[in-house]
Amino acid sequence: MRIEPVPTLVGHLAVPGDKSISHRAVLIAAICDGETRIVGFGRSADTEATIAAVRALGVDVVEEDVDTLRVAGVGVNGLRPAAAPIDCGNAGTLMRLLAGVLAGQEGRFELVGDASLTARPMERVAEPLRRMGARIETSHDHAPLVVEGSTLRAIDYELPVASAQVKSAVLLAGIQAEGRTTVVEPTPTRDHTERLLERAGANVTRRPSSVSVESASSLRLADLDIPGDISSAAPFLVAAAIVPGSAVTVHGVGLNPRRTGLLDVLERMGARISIYNRRPIGGEPGGDVEVRASDLVGASVAAAEVPGLIDELPLLAVAACHARGETVVRGAAELRAKESDRIEGVAEELKRIGGHIRATRDGFRIRGVPARLRGGIVDARGDHRLAMLGAVAGVASREGVELRGADAVGTSFPGFFEVLAQVAPGAVHYPPAT
Ligand code: S3P
Repeated sequence: MRIEPVPTLVGHLAVPGDKSISHRAVLIAAICDGETRIVGFGRSADTEATIAAVRALGVDVVEEDVDTLRVAGVGVNGLRPAAAPIDCGNAGTLMRLLAGVLAGQEGRFELVGDASLTARPMERVAEPLRRMGARIETSHDHAPLVVEGSTLRAIDYELPVASAQVKSAVLLAGIQAEGRTTVVEPTPTRDHTERLLERAGANVTRRPSSVSVESASSLRLADLDIPGDISSAAPFLVAAAIVPGSAVTVHGVGLNPRRTGLLDVLERMGARISIYNRRPIGGEPGGDVEVRASDLVGASVAAAEVPGLIDELPLLAVAACHARGETVVRGAAELRAKESDRIEGVAEELKRIGGHIRATRDGFRIRGVPARLRGGIVDARGDHRLAMLGAVAGVASREGVELRGADAVGTSFPGFFEVLAQVAPGAVHYPPAT
């Protein structure tokens, strides 16, 4: 696919429902009593895998339309073993959260994934779940994961890495464990699981750096609206910030303060960001976000900020290439354990198209120049966030970008290029059909 430069990006758009919340909504609805109607479900390859997983575990899911689901919950302990291994595809959130959900169910469950997911670390969830009494095996820290459900006990667990997925797995097992399970976080991470469990009637206690959950015999969600995914809004917001003359508004986006780190850092860099119509959406803060282009300057991103923009750091790197002066990102070694090694990938791909960026052990150093990047070839390396990086770099470049592996966007945002074409007419050129 070719992405051509555009003079400006202008317009209003909406993005699919939040991927993190969509996974959680289906997994928690599956163990609720009664039916949950989910509106604004973010349909993507990752979240389709979650629907397929709960179906395989005996849960009825009706797809009313593309983003409305009805999930017939089977109760906290009602899942049944699947006939075949459960394929989590590319979805780390699914594999790790499901391990927590299954830890206390009756039966033997095997979770498998694609090559990228199989390369990602899994002991980080297996280890705390074992402490709770779960029987769970990884294959030398990797999938396949085999879970044999057992009676669980509550634990106090200090997370060795800031990870919402690990925290969530422990909390989801915690509702099936006798007593009160507490997770202590080194740095606060996204709290969608806590919010949803609380909404479903679980006894959740939240403190600034820890969260506890008590065993629950019954959960109920009923109706749930999911806000737009700020991680899917991010490419449009970053493109609007760096392409002169642009003004883009993304409507109905989730603005959970643990997810809005990109907006905070862009603002520090001099971006013109406005938020209108702040309103709660499905128990999460939300609103409409407008970004207008402006001259940006470099910024420092510290380790404590990283969880708030972990998935947006590749796009922040594109903004930083266009900002005057140096940008330094530290404390982001976790980027190496994502769908690809995003420290290497971001640095290599941006270098190829003219960026002055150096990978460090735990982040990047970027020397920004307030001018368009040259352009050239970007390879998505099978990673949706890198495909979006290539697209944003393309519209903002001088010569355009040949984007290899563009279909990777389907992991989180299958309609990404159609939306891009609306706000950046003339940018998207599909290869001739073969
Ligand atoms: C996610 C948490 C983050 C994030 C991922 C989604 C979640 O991962 O990078 O895309 O939904 O909980 P970690 O928990 O591994 O930090």
